[in-house]
Amino acid sequence: MKAKSGTRTKSAVSRSEDLQSVVGKTSFRQALLRWFDEYRRDLPWRQAEEAYAVWVSEIMLQQTQVATVIDYYERWMERFPSVYELADAEIDEVLELWSGLGYYRRARYLHSGAQRVVDEFDGRLPSTVSELKKLPGIGPYTAGAIASIAFGAVEPLVDGNVERVISRLFALSGDPKRGSTRGQIWARAEELVDPDRPGDFNQALMELGSLVCALRSPSCQSCPTRQWCLARKIGKAEAFPESAKRAKPLPMRARACVVYAEVGDQRRFLLRRRPAKGLLARLWEFPSCERAGKTWPTLLELKERLAEAPGVKVEGPIGRTMGTVEHVFSHRRLRLRVHQLELPPSAADEPMSDDRWRWVDEEALADVASAALLKKVRKLWAGS
Ligand code: ADE
Repeated sequence: MKAKSGTRTKSAVSRSEDLQSVVGKTSFRQALLRWFDEYRRDLPWRQAEEAYAVWVSEIMLQQTQVATVIDYYERWMERFPSVYELADAEIDEVLELWSGLGYYRRARYLHSGAQRVVDEFDGRLPSTVSELKKLPGIGPYTAGAIASIAFGAVEPLVDGNVERVISRLFALSGDPKRGSTRGQIWARAEELVDPDRPGDFNQALMELGSLVCALRSPSCQSCPTRQWCLARKIGKAEAFPESAKRAKPLPMRARACVVYAEVGDQRRFLLRRRPAKGLLARLWEFPSCERAGKTWPTLLELKERLAEAPGVKVEGPIGRTMGTVEHVFSHRRLRLRVHQLELPPSAADEPMSDDRWRWVDEEALADVASAALLKKVRKLWAGS
């Protein structure tokens, strides 16, 4: 009798620890959600479950840390509280608000996506993954996030955090960026998602990945799901996921020139709008020229670039180098050599006839739509 009940207890325990079984999945979900209810961070986008707010926050959170996103999100929602304000805005203003967040394509997609939502869906985001994926910039992850968080659809999602949590739970080998492993991770996420609270469950998995199941030195002791984790059981949590060999960013060299003029008691700076296609498209910069590879563009090339600006004549050599800044983009490692050049006040007095160029006052520099790189150059200038 005793042995029998002992056996029953044991098998119930092992079933509840088995994520393939219904009992196991149910107790896993309960443990994770209980933890999330207690430890979830109080983030501004969690106050609004409106689809537009989820969309904006999820796009901003791709490739950007939560701490950085908070201010941008709040400013964005103040200026564009719904798809209508966003759809009506000029792209330049949208890019201005995005300035410094990087991966500017995200802002362009949000803007054109908002216009589609207004034109085709009467201002309401669609609620299914398949419809959402038809909008620009919305892939399987963002579609899963909007469908589950905003609409309560029982849909999985996989981002970098979920990828790590699931790889460890199931001790999945293989590079998660590759098709077959990726497919397995999505399939596991789909099996696990909680049918009653899918949005919270998905956020809980991401939260667990970011707060507990860290890439290095995960806090297995305080993990609410440790009893289900195969990687921990074999003592190798950190060995999963298998680290993919990332392609090294390619080198790139550029020269920029801080061109300025003293007009009355104001100092004005010459800015150039980058072309509509390619790296940092449409963003404002101190005029520059660049080359792929490790060869520096020549000073003559820089001079020719400056000569494209209406009313700007560069006689004599370009001024001294202030220094070199480095910036890593997703696929490029850029070294930018920065020069300076003072022009007479008359150069900055004339209105610009070309919308690719403008003169701005020192205070206005902080407000133009520009990449984080421009800030680095300003810092160099301030310290020179
Ligand atoms: N990372 C990106 N989106 C998130 C969310 N909604 N909750 C937790 N972490 C996230």
